[in-house]
Amino acid sequence: MADLQTTYMGLKLANPIIAGASRLTSKVDGIKKLADAGAGAVVLSSLFEEQIQLERARLEEDRTRWDEMYAEMTSMFPHIEHAGPEEHLALVRKAKEAAGVPIIASLNAITPETWVEYAQRLAEAGADALELNFYATPTDLSRPGREIEAEQVSIAQQVRRAVAVPISAKLSPFYANPLNVIARLDKAGVKGFVLFNRFFQPDIDIKKEANTFPLSLSHEGDYGLSLRYAGLLYGQIKADICASTGITTGEDVAKLLLAGAGCVQVVTTLYKNGADQLGKMKRALEAWMEGKGHATLADFRGKLARANQADPWAYERAQYVRTLLRPNPLD
Ligand SMILES: Cc1cc2nc3c(=O)[nH]c(=O)nc-3n(C[C@H](O)[C@H](O)[C@H](O)COP(=O)(O)O)c2cc1C
Repeated sequence: MADLQTTYMGLKLANPIIAGASRLTSKVDGIKKLADAGAGAVVLSSLFEEQIQLERARLEEDRTRWDEMYAEMTSMFPHIEHAGPEEHLALVRKAKEAAGVPIIASLNAITPETWVEYAQRLAEAGADALELNFYATPTDLSRPGREIEAEQVSIAQQVRRAVAVPISAKLSPFYANPLNVIARLDKAGVKGFVLFNRFFQPDIDIKKEANTFPLSLSHEGDYGLSLRYAGLLYGQIKADICASTGITTGEDVAKLLLAGAGCVQVVTTLYKNGADQLGKMKRALEAWMEGKGHATLADFRGKLARANQADPWAYERAQYVRTLLRPNPLD
């Protein structure tokens, strides 16, 4: 029987398939269901500081609206304040009690101070590790990329100093050189890289001439960029690589591990196929390993990474040129 055990940022996982952050991991029942179905670990849905600010502003607006209409209400009712991240911190505590697998708390804050403060509070609540969700779609034409990168590296450094648990960074692929950003974060003490986040993508309804905001699920085979970067990074950094986006089957997991990832995160396939998909993926990975004679993940991890190619140059440039020069691109 193939052994699927592995480690991620020093955490022991029974298998390399992690349930990634989503609405499915925002309630204890859902988290327990995924853990029971065989997730190696669970990443909680992100604590978004922006959401807290928005809710606070709405609460304040509601309160002051009533105050203006009925002046006496101000004295009748006690001052109500938004609980801030308390509800989310309670989720971390309950998830830790219920799940029986490592719990990774995900954070997306706004200022360096709140990144540090919320990270500390998530760690105190019992998270086994933190995932810094560096999700930021640039909308400001004047802000240089180097400034954004420097800020992210500095936040990672500050959070690492402030908490004892390991931290990972979930990144988008949209940097001029993602490898350089990853190398700098690696030096800053980030222990895992989730490659890659998937940006929310709006659409347009041409009948209504209106913007629409569909639930953004990925598609089969969308793992190409993760596979490529796992292959380029394997053996080059200290941190573990956790591949994410478009991974739907056990065979996909085998590919990402062959490229050099240590584990994977899945979300879309859990929405489409339910929590049982985790068991199916594990069984398919085991069957493939047994067919190939691999007893452990270490037997084949990174086998097809750039570092393990006889001619790494061929992996980089020639691969691309050869693909373009194929007589029939569909072959
Ligand atoms: C409904 C939904 C909610 C999500 N919420 C979060 C979140 O809170 N934090 C986060 O980092 N990623 C979030 N994601 C992104 C996923 O964690 C994942 O990176 C992305 O869906 C790509 O993986 P997949 O192809 O397996 O779906 C969410 C995705 C979906 C579909």
